[in-house]
Amino acid sequence: MFKLSKLAALAVAAGAALTVQAGEVEVLHYWTSGGEAKSAAELKKMMQAKGHTWRDFAVAGGGGDSAMTVLKSRVVSGNPPSAAQVKGPAIQEWASEGVLANMDGVAKAEKWDESLPKVVADVMKYKGSYVAAPVNVHRVNWLWASSDALKKAGVAAMPKTWDEFFAAADKLKAAGLIPVAHGGQNWQDFTTFESVVLGVGGAKFYQDALVKLDDKALGSDTMKKSLETFRRVKSYIDPGSPGRDWNLATAMLIQGKAGFQLMGDWAKGEFVAAGKVPGKDFMCAAAPGTASSFTFNVDSFILFKLKDASAQKAQSDLAAAIMSPEFQEVFNLNKGSIPVRLGMKMDKFDDCAKLSSKDFVESAKTGGLVPSIAHGMAVAPAAEGAIKDVVSQFWNDDKISVADAMKKIAQAAKTR
Ligand code: BGC
Repeated sequence: MFKLSKLAALAVAAGAALTVQAGEVEVLHYWTSGGEAKSAAELKKMMQAKGHTWRDFAVAGGGGDSAMTVLKSRVVSGNPPSAAQVKGPAIQEWASEGVLANMDGVAKAEKWDESLPKVVADVMKYKGSYVAAPVNVHRVNWLWASSDALKKAGVAAMPKTWDEFFAAADKLKAAGLIPVAHGGQNWQDFTTFESVVLGVGGAKFYQDALVKLDDKALGSDTMKKSLETFRRVKSYIDPGSPGRDWNLATAMLIQGKAGFQLMGDWAKGEFVAAGKVPGKDFMCAAAPGTASSFTFNVDSFILFKLKDASAQKAQSDLAAAIMSPEFQEVFNLNKGSIPVRLGMKMDKFDDCAKLSSKDFVESAKTGGLVPSIAHGMAVAPAAEGAIKDVVSQFWNDDKISVADAMKKIAQAAKTR
């Protein structure tokens, strides 16, 4: 009797311990395309394996603008999720509101300082303490191509310069194909724009114009040439472009209807999710003129202050899972990006990822490693949003002159 009741008591105690341990994580993200959803599912699986409940808070919309609007209203109403997909300078803005949790405990236990490039670790910290966990390194300056389309058009190699790009685009047009698959949403226009600026002006110019927002660079002949080249790219898109989601643009390459797409390597996640093989069904190359540069875009999750002990435990397990070598590998294999964690083996990764990894390291040595402005890594959100709007107005309205667009970009750069 005694023994049984003691056992029962133990069982109750164990149960209680379990309920304190297992908690819920509510995770806000905008990974809703095929490849993205597969990647996010890996994190969910890992959390569930630790006994936690995953509450998915997915807000559709590439680039995350809609997700950020929803996040603001949730935090303002005093009900933040456990974690939200936020990156770059916006991390500091959220932390300065006093709503983020100090993650130094897990960071210390899991040796984050030793496992991350210092430039990345610094972005994850506010006043010296970790408030966010990084997931990956996306490269934005990529050009993707459909092997079928290139073959049909007689384009033998991926273009290395903008001149070669336009020559190839003309061939695609002549073959009755859509030369450039473009999703006409402001963040996609901006993604194309930053690759053009990088290709036309080089990394130093990109840094001056789109990171330092230097007036002289923004008013220079190189900026003029960048805008002219950007407008020329537009003459190769199809009339169905306005409003199109980025993954539907990638699908046009997968179906062989279009030749090229300028997009970050989350596009590779779509190709791979569709069973396509790099180097065979599709090609990747640095955007024209940008082979020695790398526009980086590090996805990360900010962690909010939570009251409930079990939710805090689940949150710290989430942060540990994000930085674990197992997750960094499986997530990035699906997502198209490369691990942000140092010292990871790349043998399971494809040639596009291997090239990305090599160029990430090399460009860091030569000054070619620059933050992506279109993906929230380079400047504060207010200036980014204002410049993005002007760039899209210029893209959508051929009546706006290059000179006017330059003036408006310089003005927008002053937005605080
Ligand atoms: C994010 C990626 C995401 C892409 C499309 C980028 O800003 O960094 O993770 O896949 O937007 O939504």
